[in-house]
Amino acid sequence: MSKILVNVALPYANGPIHLGHVAGAYLNSDIFVRFQRMHGNEVMFVSGSDEHGTPATLAADRLNISPKEIADRYHKEHAEAFRNLDIIFDIYTRTTYPEHRDTVAEFFLDFNSKGLLSEHTMVAPFCPKDNRFMPDRYIEGKCPNCGFEPARGDQCDNCGKILDPQELISPKCVLCGTAPEFRETKHMFFRLDLFQDRLIQWLEGKEFWRHSVLAFTRNFIKAGLRERPITRDIEWGVPVPLEGYEHKRIYVWFEALLGYISGAKVLSERLGKKDYWKEFYFDRDVKMYHFMGKDNIIFHTIIWPAMLMGRGEYNLPYIVVANEFLTFNGQQFSKSRGIGYSVDEILKLASKDYVRYYMSSIMPESSDTDFNIEDFQSRVNGELIDKFGNYIHRLTSFIANNNLAISSFEARPDETDRHALEFARERISSYNDFLEKVEIKKALGEWLELVKFANSYFNSAQPWRLVKTDVSQCVSKLYHSLVLAQYSTALLYPFVPGASARIMEIIGSSKYQEKGFTADLLSQEGSEFKPAKGEPPFQKLALIKENPNFADLRIGEIMEAREHPDADKLYVLKVNLGTNEIQLVAGLRKHYTADELVGRKIVVIANLKPTKLRGEVSQGMLLAADDGEKVSLLAPLDGKLRAGDPVKIGEYGFNNSGKIELDKLKALELRMEASLSGTVATAILDGRRVEILAGEAQVTSHRPVKEGAQIR
Ligand code: MF3
Ligand code: ZN
Repeated sequence: MSKILVNVALPYANGPIHLGHVAGAYLNSDIFVRFQRMHGNEVMFVSGSDEHGTPATLAADRLNISPKEIADRYHKEHAEAFRNLDIIFDIYTRTTYPEHRDTVAEFFLDFNSKGLLSEHTMVAPFCPKDNRFMPDRYIEGKCPNCGFEPARGDQCDNCGKILDPQELISPKCVLCGTAPEFRETKHMFFRLDLFQDRLIQWLEGKEFWRHSVLAFTRNFIKAGLRERPITRDIEWGVPVPLEGYEHKRIYVWFEALLGYISGAKVLSERLGKKDYWKEFYFDRDVKMYHFMGKDNIIFHTIIWPAMLMGRGEYNLPYIVVANEFLTFNGQQFSKSRGIGYSVDEILKLASKDYVRYYMSSIMPESSDTDFNIEDFQSRVNGELIDKFGNYIHRLTSFIANNNLAISSFEARPDETDRHALEFARERISSYNDFLEKVEIKKALGEWLELVKFANSYFNSAQPWRLVKTDVSQCVSKLYHSLVLAQYSTALLYPFVPGASARIMEIIGSSKYQEKGFTADLLSQEGSEFKPAKGEPPFQKLALIKENPNFADLRIGEIMEAREHPDADKLYVLKVNLGTNEIQLVAGLRKHYTADELVGRKIVVIANLKPTKLRGEVSQGMLLAADDGEKVSLLAPLDGKLRAGDPVKIGEYGFNNSGKIELDKLKALELRMEASLSGTVATAILDGRRVEILAGEAQVTSHRPVKEGAQIR
């Protein structure tokens, strides 16, 4: 049993949490924490809102509300979004808490007294109209490098060049458009340069980090560390505990990092163990994990450890885990530009279990990965449901249907069973190794291997045959199948906790019922089961609704009716379809006079392959109901419809799949059915009988016909 501290970058509380955030740091850290807890380790899991910073003030200034209002709103939303995804922090702290301000002041004053801070005068943009210094990104102008306009005072979005606001050509204040003055102002600097050697030394033992993180950090240090300004001329932020600095604030990064410590303190207070946080920051055996997206690396591998070194005695990060980016159809997630799903949006489409499963399977660990809705559906349906859910369901319903009692005492492992258990042990052991290294995707891969194996073990054991020939052998095979089910459910737990708990109940694992999710579930010893009879554990994910309607149904208007020259039952009709006119041949002479037909609004199938009937071309088909006695043309209930208006089958309009053969229509089983508005036209589509709809209303027959009448 050991203690582990897991700190996850505090997201800015100035916009919705989206799947890019989730994949970057929050889901993988939650999976890691659940895994560690299963194995009995004591974890402190900390994140929270980074409430300060210029993006928040910029948003507030533009909306004309206070930054505090923005932070309050998003803090609440973020905390909820994480909970809704089963991402459960021990504390979701805020950088506006008084404990935070105090912690920052304590570090700042300590650094100052140790000579780790210095004061310098610099030149900064000042807006004479707003009467204040402006953050660099509040100044916009023409980029001196590429000519792009508007380039921000800190960076040009077009060519990427890092800029000083003074370099901009014709700079302007983004709030009022006034040209800024450049005035002198004093700031405090953190002497990062003093930590260069110690950081290099500290990184020497870190070969187990992801290569990209380590290489990036080393290169950054090699370029030479310089002192960095850690105060700003702004109003929104943590106060600077120095005289003459009343109108300045601490730079957001320099204080937000300390949110890990102040958050741990707040948690300890809440738990009634005031000094609990100290165990995590001062006991040398505690490993400190940091999770974040790759844009946060330097802050966590250089500035943060330097701050901890400067303060003295604090543990340093054990590992810094930085994920790459998640893209959405190839573009970077950005809610402000409408790219990708927020957590709230995706949870309206799919359950948290499915979202967690898919996000785990595409976690951007070694390169950027892409979120794709088709892929989402097929991974969940093909793997989680078809491979795993079905296995559980086949196994437990077989046991229930045959009224079998399964007990470990009757298990007589043969060669195959021993091999199966050995295979499972190997999967479990590499799964553990991968999660220990926070290799989420690879760990999930081991789970999938085990699930596939369990399926083939069950299939080749053929319990449905054994149950007739050798019941005790059958029970033994089922026992081992349940052991494999317990293992795979336990391995799935960190990824998909909700469904895993449900499935443990379905297989009736006695160990689970006693102790919940512990590593004990990964050994066979003492595993007993009372499976429940029930429904399949998952419902298929249906995100992409394929439109199954192949019939182009439209309102037509009969313009002309003449008798077929060579057939006494047939009319040759000219029918207006709005955009065009077609010729139809219809066998209606026994039922309608030509006068009764002309001017009538009917329903036409417009995408039949043209045929010739006794020498006359027919370019479609009109729909009529026939109950054996009477024949009636179909007619839209809504009289305002015009020729060419589309007619839907259920919710489905025509899917534009082109021309069809007459034969294909049989599948629709067109028929009149009773409804509240009389007998109406219906069809079978996608396995359901649905009404045919023209406009907002159904389609009926203008002459009454009996229920069940065929439509042709
Ligand atoms: N707010 C930053 C971001 O969203 C992360 C800050 S991490 C902290 O990129 F530790 F400094 F809080
Ligand atoms: Zn201005």
